[in-house]
Amino acid sequence: MNKNNLAVMNNLLKGKRGIIFGALNDMSIAWKVAEQAHEQGAEFVLTNAPIAMRMGEINKLAEKCNAEVIPADATSVEDLTNLFEKATEILGGKIDFVLHSIGMSPNVRKGKHYTNINYNFLQQTLDVSAISLHKTLAVAYEKDYINDWGSVVALTYIAAQRVFPDYNDMADAKSLLESITRSFGYHYGVKRNVRINTISQSPTMTTAGSGVKGFSEFLSYSDQMSPLGNAPAVDCANYVISMFSDMTKYVTMQNLFHDGGFSNTGVSEKVIANFEQK
Ligand code: NAI
Repeated sequence: MNKNNLAVMNNLLKGKRGIIFGALNDMSIAWKVAEQAHEQGAEFVLTNAPIAMRMGEINKLAEKCNAEVIPADATSVEDLTNLFEKATEILGGKIDFVLHSIGMSPNVRKGKHYTNINYNFLQQTLDVSAISLHKTLAVAYEKDYINDWGSVVALTYIAAQRVFPDYNDMADAKSLLESITRSFGYHYGVKRNVRINTISQSPTMTTAGSGVKGFSEFLSYSDQMSPLGNAPAVDCANYVISMFSDMTKYVTMQNLFHDGGFSNTGVSEKVIANFEQK
């Protein structure tokens, strides 16, 4: 490991072209993926919802990575079509990798309880956080924007499999996201050997993460439960890079846990110690 905690790798993505969704600020997982992809020799465009760009942070990242920024609301097929058209033009060829790093729930934001959610909000949650992956893939599939053996990664959370009460309707969105990954992974695999996977990341202190009620306590719990501790964002980025690289060519339609062992741990000694009789 070098001083930035980035695995020592060399030009793993040299010659590859990509699209990275979801870098909001320097805490974003997508931000770290962009930094790492640049370091590994990739060329890519950055994209985010027009509203998220008002803060202007993404321009700093774009400058650092020598990347152009193309605004796109990931729920708009029109925006996504424009995104792929422009990205292939700017990068001078078809796309090799796509990062879907998008999540948002108005029910979580407005503090609605899961048993009493607003259904218009639920539709927005599902559209932004899950169906946007289908729309992205459908646009690429129809116009054949992704190269053979291209790799698409979306970020997810274990609340898709187990109950975490405060994750609210995002749990349902993540289940749908993982299902779309399998279903589209089949069809795009047959058509072009394009692989599609989700990475299920440890809780991470980012803008989206910290919107979840009681998040910092939960972060500590998860850290104590995981034999390796919570996986940092930068290590998640390393894993994403490996999934974009040719080192993982036959991995597709999978939900891959990047969680320090949390998903296979029933209880840890550290957590049990909190219940010892005094
Ligand atoms: P973040 O807040 O930095 O990123 C979320 C991104 O989604 C933002 O850039 C936001 O602008 C974008 N977004 C929201 N609505 C959009 C729309 N309509 N069109 C395009 N983009 C839109 O937070 P983070 O944590 O980096 O989130 C990235 C992904 O990682 C999300 O899918 C999240 O659910 C997932 N994840 C996060 C974990 C955490 O604890 N932070 C744990 C496991 C997964």
